[in-house]
Amino acid sequence: MGRNLKFEIFRYNPLTPDIQPCMRTYRLEEHPSMTLFIALNMIRERQDASLQFDFCCRAGICGSCGMVINGRPGLACHTQTCDLPNHIALHPLPVFKLLGDLCVDTGVWFRNMGTKIESWIHTAKAFEPSVPEERMDNALANHIFELDRCIECGCCVGACGTARMREDFIGATAINRLARFHIDPRDNRSPADFYDIIGDDTGIFGCMGLLACDNVCPKNLPLQDQLGIMRRMVTIESVRGIIPAFIRNKLQGCGCKQKC
Ligand code: SF4
Ligand code: SF4
Ligand code: FES
Repeated sequence: MGRNLKFEIFRYNPLTPDIQPCMRTYRLEEHPSMTLFIALNMIRERQDASLQFDFCCRAGICGSCGMVINGRPGLACHTQTCDLPNHIALHPLPVFKLLGDLCVDTGVWFRNMGTKIESWIHTAKAFEPSVPEERMDNALANHIFELDRCIECGCCVGACGTARMREDFIGATAINRLARFHIDPRDNRSPADFYDIIGDDTGIFGCMGLLACDNVCPKNLPLQDQLGIMRRMVTIESVRGIIPAFIRNKLQGCGCKQKC
């Protein structure tokens, strides 16, 4: 017989504002290999059909099931109950618009972020569908792919102190994405262009550097490294006119190609 798990789950429906937010308790017997995703489905199927939470892939791919699990953002489908104490508290991710209970709207946040940082390849080359794609060095392609693995779950944003204090902060996920374009030879943006996007308190200079983002990312994206690389790049850009070129060249070497 498995453990008797006690779930305390945040309940609130913004469509019924007269009913105050509360924590509701559910009990469930644990079984082998039970994930939070399975547990939540069992609660919804057997105890409370009104419980709202998101999921899609059940495999850590879609990014839908991010929530705060005993105070730490994570994916419900990737979290096994055996790794948690028998008292489990679940809250929705902060920062994002609450849709109900554990369900938040990450989509609008990520769309706005993508628009703000212009999350696409900037090139003057016209697209020629009949021309073979340009070849890229394998190591560089792998490096870009490594940074491109973000599933937009929002866990890093929910864990971020700055994002919780100011809603215009773009977060580590955005800076990681810009780092991806920074190393992409097809993107013609200069350091000055990147500086214009993240060279203020809503970008890299709003980051406090405590790295909760890096700590919670379920895909283990190298957020710490990318924050460092982009901070160095925009800092050098901000003093480009006043430090000698040989010092600039020493400071650079961030791994990007000819862009600095
Ligand atoms: S290191 Fe920066 S981006 Fe990451 S959680 Fe802290 S403030 Fe947010
Ligand atoms: S960087 Fe990691 S934690 Fe942040 S949204 Fe992407 S996958 Fe989720
Ligand atoms: S359901 Fe897709 S990441 Fe959890």
